[in-house]
Amino acid sequence: MTSLPTPTALPRRPIRELPDELVSQIAAGEVVERPASVVRELVDNALDAGATQITLRLQAGGVRLISVEDNGCGILRSELPHALKRHATSKIASLSDLESVGTMGFRGEALAAICSIAEVSLLTRVDTPDEPHGWLLDGRSGELQPTARAPGTTVEVRELFFATPARRKFLKTDATELAHCIEAVRRHALARPDVGFAIWHEGKLVAQWRAVAGDSGMAALRQRLADVLGEDFVAQAVAVDWPIDPPVLVANGQQRLRVWGFAGVPDAARSRADWQFAYVNGRYVRDKVITHAARSAYEDVLHGHRQPVYALFVSLDPTRVDVNVHPTKIEVRFRDSREVHQGVHHAVEAALAVPRSGNSAADAAPLPVAAPAAPAWTPPARQAPFAFAPREPEVGHRVSDVGALWATAPAAAPPTTASSNANAWTPPARSADPAPPQALPEGDWPLGRAIAQLQGVYILAENAHGLVVVDMHAAHERIVYERLKQQLDEQQLASQPLLIPATFSATPDEVATAEDGADVLATLGLEITALSPKTLAVRAVPTTLAQGDPVELARSVLAELGQHEASTVVQRARNELLATMACHGAVRANRRLTLDEMNALLRQMEVTERSDQCNHGRPTWRQMGMKELDALFLRGR
Ligand SMILES: Nc1ncnc2c1ncn2[C@@H]1O[C@H](COP(=O)(O)OP(=O)(O)OP(=O)(O)O)[C@@H](O)[C@H]1O
Ligand SMILES: [Mg+2]
Repeated sequence: MTSLPTPTALPRRPIRELPDELVSQIAAGEVVERPASVVRELVDNALDAGATQITLRLQAGGVRLISVEDNGCGILRSELPHALKRHATSKIASLSDLESVGTMGFRGEALAAICSIAEVSLLTRVDTPDEPHGWLLDGRSGELQPTARAPGTTVEVRELFFATPARRKFLKTDATELAHCIEAVRRHALARPDVGFAIWHEGKLVAQWRAVAGDSGMAALRQRLADVLGEDFVAQAVAVDWPIDPPVLVANGQQRLRVWGFAGVPDAARSRADWQFAYVNGRYVRDKVITHAARSAYEDVLHGHRQPVYALFVSLDPTRVDVNVHPTKIEVRFRDSREVHQGVHHAVEAALAVPRSGNSAADAAPLPVAAPAAPAWTPPARQAPFAFAPREPEVGHRVSDVGALWATAPAAAPPTTASSNANAWTPPARSADPAPPQALPEGDWPLGRAIAQLQGVYILAENAHGLVVVDMHAAHERIVYERLKQQLDEQQLASQPLLIPATFSATPDEVATAEDGADVLATLGLEITALSPKTLAVRAVPTTLAQGDPVELARSVLAELGQHEASTVVQRARNELLATMACHGAVRANRRLTLDEMNALLRQMEVTERSDQCNHGRPTWRQMGMKELDALFLRGR
């Protein structure tokens, strides 16, 4: 029988202080994972130096060369030898400085760490009359030479990881490393629209974002986001600014929490969480509190695994956040993470709740099409009846109960000319005269006046900007859902008994769920009782859903309930349950609606929160502006 090897004690070795070089290399292991980490540190330094223009030059994805040039304050000759030393910094001097850091750097470690794993040179000049030239410092030899340079600093890092070949083996292709470097600059660029950035790779300009002049507020951020992430990002994002009306940003000597930025509409969500940029006091961070808070704000409009997009900036008193948590400073710790969670959640939720139909003028931003001067061709004089006049719904297909679904439409009845005399209505002639005979008065409904229903799926409406197309099932589902939520919150989810209970054959599971969950069902306005071990009867349904199919409703609610612990289901799965119910209560596709019914739906959308998206995060309506329509027909070209 062989015995297992017994662990042998290591021969005793003396305790020694490690050489400085090795200490730095160990530190570098934490700070510098790849070229992009060096880029991040050098750009941090340039921003701390007050640069307004930062230029990067890279070779071989940054492995052969990373050069970062800035026009910041430069370094005095007398301080130059300290710049590359460990634990040497100009940014903090005491513990209290550390507890309220306002700069990107503070550890005094980055340059020393980089020096230990690459060849570094530093060329710098301060902007004072008594320094007529710059200085070049060789990181390896420590040699200093006078050279010519405009005020500012250039740090060159060559042959990264030459001294630690094991690390070098972990690097990916040049293209991948370059992409990481660009991403690192992008994160800085979003936070600093006032600074211009340029990135060159192998002599080619690969990205350039010009400094945005003027204020550094929302307008500048919007511009920078458009430059860095594309016009589509801003076109599909809403402004976040919380609290809405900050009376004083400093309370009790402390800076109040503020959350601002842009959040993409649910429609803009992506399958990966790669466009979620979060900043704390201007520093890009990866923070679970913020990520969770932002995602939870989308809970109601983005079901499933889609990832929202956003660029969110949290500013708060520096003493209320610890940035000294992680060597790369990518993590922070909040003194009161609940405060931050609530702030971010409310900020994003409030921004998303505003129905965009309210500002559709802005959303229907004109396409860059030349405005039609005098159209070269005008349609021939109309001969009534015009071919595309809306048709009155065929009598046999009218569904009388649909009106009841939105009988509580708050707005006054829409003009009835169109519906009462639809056949006589013809589209106004569009000529050089911009005022059509039936122009909608100023301040008319944002979603316009219904003119027709298309294929039983879409409502077409006319507003001041042109054509509005509404997905009627999606829109109605959202309205029903919001109404159910409100009723449940106010404990007024009224229930309506069915004259004749609807019975259906049920599985043993369904019967058990109905019996165990009777209380929960009652809270939801449902009464489902067992008639036999295999039969259930629906005796009451929520009034809001009275028009739907009670059996379908009961089945899907029971299926949903069956997946949860009955006692807590209303707290934990409330929204899923109500969404399921709303889906069954909403008007189905292929139902014919009258113009009055369509108009009532439009009016309800205008006053319902989050009515821009259905419960699955898809849009419920789209605007097609006149310019867009004109462009389709090449009018005015
Ligand atoms: N581009 C620059 N312009 C002006 N001064 C710079 C620049 N880069 C570095 N320095 C000076 O060199 C010092 C050391 O830089 P280093 O990045 O090593 O440390 P740090 O920025 O202070 O802290 P951290 O290790 O957290 O980055 C800085 O404190 C700063 O005074
Ligand atoms: Mg630094």
